[in-house]
Amino acid sequence: MLHNPQMEAMHAATGDPQERARALLEQMTLDEKIGQLCQVNGGQHDLHDAVRAGRIGSVLNEVNVDELNELQRIAVEESRLGIPLLIGRDVIHGFKTIFPIPLGQAATWDPASVKAAARVAATEAASVGVNWTFAPMIDITRDPRWGRIAESLGEDPVLCSSLGAAMVEGFQGDQLSDHTAIAACAKHFAGYGAVESGLDYATANIPENELRNVYLRPFKAAADAGAATFMASFSDLNGVPASGNEFLMKQVLRDEWGFGGFVVSDWESIKELTVHGFSANDGEAAFEAANAGVDMEMASSLYRDHLPGLLESGRLEESQIDEMVCNILKVKFALGLFEHAFTDPHDYPALVNDEHRELAKAVATKSCVLLKNDGPVLPVSLDATENIAVIGPLADDGYEQLGTWIFDGESHHSHTCLRAIYDLVGDRARVHWVPAMRSSRCRENVGIEDAVRVAQESDIALLFLGEESILSGEAHSRADIGLPGEQEALIEAVTATGTPTVLVVLAGRPLTLGNIVDKVSAILYAWHPGTMGGPAIADLLFGEESPSGKLPVTFPRMVGQIPIYYARKNTGRPPSHDSITHIDDIDGKAEQTSLGMSAFHLDAGFTPQFHFGYGLSYTQFAYRDMSLSTDLLGMGDTLTLRCTVENVGDRAAEEVVQLYIRDLVGNVTRPVKELKGFQRVPLAPGESREVSFELHTDDLAFHNRRMELVTEPGQFHAWIGSSSDPELWAEFEVVD
Ligand code: BGC
Repeated sequence: MLHNPQMEAMHAATGDPQERARALLEQMTLDEKIGQLCQVNGGQHDLHDAVRAGRIGSVLNEVNVDELNELQRIAVEESRLGIPLLIGRDVIHGFKTIFPIPLGQAATWDPASVKAAARVAATEAASVGVNWTFAPMIDITRDPRWGRIAESLGEDPVLCSSLGAAMVEGFQGDQLSDHTAIAACAKHFAGYGAVESGLDYATANIPENELRNVYLRPFKAAADAGAATFMASFSDLNGVPASGNEFLMKQVLRDEWGFGGFVVSDWESIKELTVHGFSANDGEAAFEAANAGVDMEMASSLYRDHLPGLLESGRLEESQIDEMVCNILKVKFALGLFEHAFTDPHDYPALVNDEHRELAKAVATKSCVLLKNDGPVLPVSLDATENIAVIGPLADDGYEQLGTWIFDGESHHSHTCLRAIYDLVGDRARVHWVPAMRSSRCRENVGIEDAVRVAQESDIALLFLGEESILSGEAHSRADIGLPGEQEALIEAVTATGTPTVLVVLAGRPLTLGNIVDKVSAILYAWHPGTMGGPAIADLLFGEESPSGKLPVTFPRMVGQIPIYYARKNTGRPPSHDSITHIDDIDGKAEQTSLGMSAFHLDAGFTPQFHFGYGLSYTQFAYRDMSLSTDLLGMGDTLTLRCTVENVGDRAAEEVVQLYIRDLVGNVTRPVKELKGFQRVPLAPGESREVSFELHTDDLAFHNRRMELVTEPGQFHAWIGSSSDPELWAEFEVVD
């Protein structure tokens, strides 16, 4: 119960969260203020007492609705000031209904799908009392060795910004105070995706203009979309660990972007400042983090233990603590927690209901990328197929299809590929199922003979291979990103039967497929597709749907090419197909200067296995008639770029039309291509459509050598097409 009429009046007040936070702050003791800065893991033995005493502002990893209601009751009714708790959880790609991993969602290139998935995730999580998710993860990464690429939205700042903002909007709903809204958390601020050699937790060194032009852009977009919170990264950025990085959190986030929410540390990342060698001890670490702008401490208790001493010694001012508390209280007010701290699951739709499953299937369908389709062997025609071999450990594994970060997902909800194929095929063909391997990593007792036998008996072999969930995600980086275990041997043996073979890859990252890409007839890249991966994939394989996913990240031929990404710099010696030589073709005793003298690898050339934006369909799209509203653009003007896209095949399908530009000359060198727009366009057979993009000169701005955000006058190239190797080209000029 609230203790006095004055408090009751204040809690009941409506109005601006900032004013309400300031008013509440005035009632708080220093201990209560510091309490708001502390986030602890659920289930600790003295949690109820700590909440009652006002020593806790937030709890993470507790999802039992009764326990959460009890914690909120203690906070609201038994703590002196009745301040409700923030309840945090990693709801990364679904709560109970699991959607494709974020990298798979990025392959949809469809903000509407991504937003809808986040909306469902939020509604399900809110139904048990969670009011804050640690998502979206919007670390740009160009390194598929990094296990956390699975959680990311890929390599491109424009795609990632658009989808990250869509996730924020989905989680937070129309307004944060809605009972189905949960606060979003843009993470990990910043530079984590550039960790050296893709090794999790390692160091990132990113020059400031690259940081601003690439890595920070999705965070700016998330802030602009209203993300209520940010999370500081574990990693060291240019010698200053992100959790003690004043430049990031004060200069950029607060001063330049005007962010009004709060920043949470990552798990014990304040304590780890000392392990980094950035602070001498826990007290110094608490000082560095608080001073740099981390408002809330996750998991460790350095703020609780050391902020009082730091205030007493005068190293920190109480006004700094007030600021931190106020940032947190504002979010609590905005979420409406002072009005409704309790959760009644009956106020929410059922978990994993049919509607949620349908959406999960639709998103998974859009996320699969068709990388190869010789023949074409796909879609499988049931009129011409009597026997189908289904082979591989990932065909019927409800757990592994869910992917990383599924704390609350349950495999019994999963609809597997095998089950979906049985359902879809019915008695129209015979399905011969052989798992062949115990797991994707298996090196022993590989059931190659069984696999070969069923392949020989069949008209087509469908192989479900890739990576188990545990091989990607946090702390699961790999140095060799080929198919693990004996999978390549299995593919060799099955394809040697001569039966057309379709490889369906379920994985948390781009894998290097160089050894097998020429052996199989078709490859469908399904990422970890989530609860409804099975029916989505089956519909694609049998032509109920046409693939429409596009790669959100470049696929290297081999690990040594990493980092390889489409928006590379030209260099002074750009490679061309004429300038390169393969290692096997070099003459004996060749002279030093006998090769192309350009930027390529002797053994890998310069092109990726599959380029960014790439993805096939069961139909074909013809691109023509690119036109520009003007080829001379004044500063502040908007250019309209148009083209016609026609479905020249015989199936209805969706195409992701992509716009790229190149700024030919810059105060700092500019990438050879930059994505500037994309649209998903549905087209019936024979239908053509004019697609147009608007490009304002502000969209051409970049941070120059002096870190100013400028659009420079000069020549630009523009392309529109179906991938980062686009079909149509034009040029324009920007003048002052
Ligand atoms: C991860 C975060 C996550 C946090 C809480 C950390 O290990 O880096 O992304 O939100 O744990 O579970």
